[in-house]
Amino acid sequence: THVVTDHCEQCRYTECVTVCPVACFRGDGERLFIDPDLCVDCGACVPMCPVHAIVDSFDLEDDQQIWLDVNARRSKELPTVRERAMPLPTAAERRASLGH
Ligand code: F3S
Repeated sequence: THVVTDHCEQCRYTECVTVCPVACFRGDGERLFIDPDLCVDCGACVPMCPVHAIVDSFDLEDDQQIWLDVNARRSKELPTVRERAMPLPTAAERRASLGH
């Protein structure tokens, strides 16, 4: 599976949802998560995210492993997000702070 990391927080660009062939993105008003039972590992969303928030779970650093569990758990609690939306007002500042 691929996972959404903390880079999505304060951004929520939602570019990722426009290319997902299986609608595996779930989310709240703060950020998105990937349902690991739906993700087909196509990787289409990875280059879409301006803040590089989406990572193949096999490529997670040790300190990013937590996102595997968080995506699995939170995705089951939240509604599907299919529509592109305006990024959060904090997105540009957050993006700059992440160096993207
Ligand atoms: Fe988040 Fe990037 Fe998608 S900021 S909503 S993972 S395009």
